[in-house]
Amino acid sequence: MAFMSAQAIIIDCDPGVDDAIALLLAFASPQALEILAVTTVAGNVDAQQTARNARLIRQIAGAEGVPVHAGATRPLVRAPIVASHFHGTSGLGWLEVSEPSAPAAAGHSADAIIAAVMSRPPKTVSIAVMGPMTNLALAMTLEPKLAARLEQVVIMGGARIEGGNITASAEYNVFADPHAASMVYGSGAPCIAIGLDATHQVRTTPQRLAAIKALARPSAKAVATLLEFSIDVQRRLVPGAPPPPLHDPCTIAYLIAPQLFETVSADLQVETESPLTLGHTAVEFRLPDPAAATVRWAVKADANGVFGLLQEALAR
Ligand code: BDR
Ligand code: CA
Repeated sequence: MAFMSAQAIIIDCDPGVDDAIALLLAFASPQALEILAVTTVAGNVDAQQTARNARLIRQIAGAEGVPVHAGATRPLVRAPIVASHFHGTSGLGWLEVSEPSAPAAAGHSADAIIAAVMSRPPKTVSIAVMGPMTNLALAMTLEPKLAARLEQVVIMGGARIEGGNITASAEYNVFADPHAASMVYGSGAPCIAIGLDATHQVRTTPQRLAAIKALARPSAKAVATLLEFSIDVQRRLVPGAPPPPLHDPCTIAYLIAPQLFETVSADLQVETESPLTLGHTAVEFRLPDPAAATVRWAVKADANGVFGLLQEALAR
């Protein structure tokens, strides 16, 4: 794929097995992406672990030039909820975890997001958000001009027809901090929402895993180990289910190749009160003025295209 110039992005994440794969895809795509910062947040595992994991993934990718900032240690309002049953106690499944040699950069994730976006011209920096949206909500609160300044916010978060994956009606990232998600989706920043409706179309079939296992680079080996862990978890926790979906890498794939996704203008509201449906995303397509909508909801993903992109990047 040929690119005019790399687009400036921030990656906000809670690694997390699929976050780690998303990071490895992004680090392996320097022609398409200029990564200004990686910011981490408490989510799949605690904040200290997600920051450590992001630094470890950066080390595997040989991308020590990219700063990793640690961020929010808990959601805005609700109690923290981890997902270590899906990501292993370290957050990185079967990947061998040790203390990375390079430290985290100084400064909270929210401040790093503000600094990176406000120091560049308006509408030239995008952010991929693939964990609870706490850091971005904090940043938008601290800097009210931030939302208007962002080029786009590409979010793994929410579900419409797919219901939920952490409760019957909520997707994990939204459920883990519904108040933050409500602020980000309602901020007026252009949001691309890649929820379960799209990510459940992108599954790690045996053929797709085999293609990645055939690659020799350290990043490819790490991705194969992470995918194999996800396959094992899916087998154990959801017997009889199809192969596991690849959620977070879809945000990076969208930034590199948006044509792999079909999106529709939508109004998206987050449930923040009902104990039964907390974190549910009400996604409405029947809009009086679709052109005024700031959210686009992903309805279709080209799974072969996403895996092709991953394979191509990891082979480079
Ligand atoms: C999301 O939840 C997390 O466990 C994954 O990392 C992903 O961001 C999928 O619902
Ligand atoms: Ca995640």
